[in-house]
Amino acid sequence: MKFETAALHCGQQVDQGTLSRAVPIYRTTAYLFKDTEHAANLFSLKELGNIYTRIGNPTQAVLEERLAMLEGGTASLALASGTSAIFYSIINICEAGDEVVAANNLYGGTYSQFDSILPQLGIKVNLVAPNDPDNFRAAINEKTRALYCETIGNPGLTMTDIEAVARIGQEFNLPLIVDSTFTPPCLFRPLEHGADIVIHSLTKWIGGHGTVLGGIVTDGGTFDWSDPKFTLFNQPDHSYHGLRYAHDLGEMNKIAFVLRMRLVPLRNLGACISPDNCWAFLQGLETLSLRMERHSENGMAVAEYLQKHPHVDWVSYPGLSDSNNHELAARYLKNGFGGMVAFGVKGGMAAGKNFIESLQLFSHLANVGDAKSLAIHPASTTHSQLSPEQLQDAGISNSMIRLSVGIEHIDDIIGDLEQALDSAES
Ligand SMILES: Cc1ncc(COP(=O)(O)O)c(C=O)c1O
Repeated sequence: MKFETAALHCGQQVDQGTLSRAVPIYRTTAYLFKDTEHAANLFSLKELGNIYTRIGNPTQAVLEERLAMLEGGTASLALASGTSAIFYSIINICEAGDEVVAANNLYGGTYSQFDSILPQLGIKVNLVAPNDPDNFRAAINEKTRALYCETIGNPGLTMTDIEAVARIGQEFNLPLIVDSTFTPPCLFRPLEHGADIVIHSLTKWIGGHGTVLGGIVTDGGTFDWSDPKFTLFNQPDHSYHGLRYAHDLGEMNKIAFVLRMRLVPLRNLGACISPDNCWAFLQGLETLSLRMERHSENGMAVAEYLQKHPHVDWVSYPGLSDSNNHELAARYLKNGFGGMVAFGVKGGMAAGKNFIESLQLFSHLANVGDAKSLAIHPASTTHSQLSPEQLQDAGISNSMIRLSVGIEHIDDIIGDLEQALDSAES
């Protein structure tokens, strides 16, 4: 199936009891066992099936199968948020004493998780500037267990050369984990460019309407976890019948990463997604490619408009031909550059504040990827926990405004920016 078709059909077996065309929401906590042998088989993984909704649910299973197909992976695991998807991906690989090398231009919440929560567990993250892939190589040591980056960094909108970083990962047998939230799979599929694990905050463009939270992790299925340095995949798991995930899964070997994540972090820490949210994400997926076309078209028009505006200092949009990222963007983003635009208003912090407060159509809030246009001042909000040095490293200036350009008519979007820029000056 082509992307647009799979986004509507893949993963659903029509329920033969009701013949429901839409995917039903299975609002149940637990599932009946046919008999004691069936129960025992499910618990020992001799058979895969539903036990308890913290571990999996049929509505969730459709979302997971659909996303795995759209992303080109072997299996996906949906979770309560993008944040839990990131956390579980790291602790599915790393123990105390292990290290990760990550790009330093990350979403503020991820930055905090890496900078303050993971160290509490004894996991160290070495942050590097992703503009030169060799910075990843230079930070790798014998304790490194994974490489991590975003496709388009938030909010600076700088891109990472995924293929170059993936090659470095292959040299050292380290998995590359990519947060591809800003590039939904109709725009970019990191697994086709060497990434091993892909994360999305479903909350953003995949949901698309600013109504629900969720995250998803997709396994590329090709990474070899049998290297003994990945202790969690090679030592018997006493919490799960002594299973060694890199050795004992037989045909399920290609889903070892997400299977372990389901059986260990999800089962025991419990950041499960609700079936209702899965249903909302399935609705979002149905129109994802159509919406992304409009987001990208409007994003480009806004970037070009801002670039010519006398009150605007600078504009960052990967689609602009004079952008520092344009070579990478043109190479990787063949179906559009998305709806995120960052820019600086002349007059610094005060003018930026005036601009934000003058917006009428754009909503001033902390989110991206809604069908509606959104705006925020990152230095005083989403990234306010960063020190001045960290802000500088992440490329976030005091004058930066981040726009998540929606799918309204472009004339109304530009009209709102025009009047807010006029007010910002006065
Ligand atoms: C790039 C990126 N990754 C992850 C997240 C976290 O996702 P969630 O809000 O679903 O936890 C965000 C949230 O803004 C994000 O922008």
